[in-house]
Amino acid sequence: MSVPVRKVNRSDSLEALPQICDAILEDLSLMMQFNPRSAAFRTNPYPVYHRLRAEDPIHYRHEKGDWILTRYADIMTLLKDNRIDPRDGVERVPDDSQQNHPNHVINQFLHLREESQKLRRHWIIVTNPPVHARLRKILTPAFTNQKINALEPYIQMKADQMVDKAITSGMLDVIRDFASPLIVDTISKILGVPLEKDRVRLVRLAYDVSIAINLDTPHITSERAQFALVELTQYFRNLITRLRSNTEQQDNLISMMIQAHAKGELSEDELLGNCIFLFVTGQGAPQHIIGNGILALLRHPEQLRLLQKEPTRIKTAIDECLRYDCPGQYMIRRAPVDIEIGDKIIQKGQKIALVVGAANRDPAQFSEPDKFDICREPKQYLTFGYGMHACMGTRLAQLDLLRNKLLTSLNN
Ligand code: HEM
Repeated sequence: MSVPVRKVNRSDSLEALPQICDAILEDLSLMMQFNPRSAAFRTNPYPVYHRLRAEDPIHYRHEKGDWILTRYADIMTLLKDNRIDPRDGVERVPDDSQQNHPNHVINQFLHLREESQKLRRHWIIVTNPPVHARLRKILTPAFTNQKINALEPYIQMKADQMVDKAITSGMLDVIRDFASPLIVDTISKILGVPLEKDRVRLVRLAYDVSIAINLDTPHITSERAQFALVELTQYFRNLITRLRSNTEQQDNLISMMIQAHAKGELSEDELLGNCIFLFVTGQGAPQHIIGNGILALLRHPEQLRLLQKEPTRIKTAIDECLRYDCPGQYMIRRAPVDIEIGDKIIQKGQKIALVVGAANRDPAQFSEPDKFDICREPKQYLTFGYGMHACMGTRLAQLDLLRNKLLTSLNN
């Protein structure tokens, strides 16, 4: 049954009461299963996605007041619609800095917290045209195929070192010993972040921010992310100052943004905000796609053997790993106006979760979607988003994803 929010006139709302109660009960039963915070759901969300897609593909969550979309076609429609607002409540940040607390240390912290929160409004991912196009143009040169291909020997060398170490010790924790250090090194090299003694702290801060960018984030996680944002803001402010005072030509993304700022193409807040965004976004998903990809191969040993026997299948294998179990399962949007989609009306200002993890398993788009098949003919999956905000790190993520040496060393 569908949800009553749509197309029920006020005048007939009393007659519709039993229908509304039924819908709420059904809603509750579905929602007990759709729980992004439960470990069981997170381990395997796909059966719940299939049920949602079949029974209520444009699902309204009464208790949260948001929409959950699970059909490929609907998600694609909204991703193609440039009116859809990518801002997820960043406008509603409480202005704590106006409160005058008797303790000056707390006042100082509240001020820093407010400042770092404001920077989130400049993250490219939450900007709308024309600001978005300006930011994208500044960042694009760092992500061309030529730039990324030039990184390949560095990535290969790092990957080889890590795998050789694991072969010597006979043990490999894929995330801890391989994916995390490889990705952190790579994104830091691109940005120009000297990890040195700050590595452990920076990795933890990026993690604390990234896990808060999710659906149904618990309050404590959001609070931890606030603290991490304050610390990252201070770190990148200092780094920008250091890079500015360095007269040598630097070939890294932060220096490129500093030059854009000097030419008046980028504001100071845009510069600082996007250093933080790129550092955070360049770490989480790429690590997890390596983890998820390796896990899928280990769970399908016949596919792993096939890939080891025929390594030229690496390209379609990478695509299949990206489709089959993608790291970021949702993209969040807001309706800028009332939007009619399917047989529902999403009201202005309401939050919409585009469940790309479900879109990638939609049988209307992918035959036998639950089958892991490294020979699958490539089709547009939505792991990297689509349209205006489509991922800029696609090429990099695909390069990083599965190194041949790791694959050939994997033992069933
Ligand atoms: C497997 C790895 C990755 C995945 C699955 C991924 C996924 C995504 C997705 C889904 C979006 C769009 C989000 C939305 O529309 O709300 C996005 C945007 C973005 N990603 Fe990635 N990403 C990955 C790696 C990277 C890397 C390594 C970088 C490099 C720093 C990067 C940079 C960006 C940027 C700059 C945007 C914003 C683009 C814009 O707003 O125009 N991503 N990513």
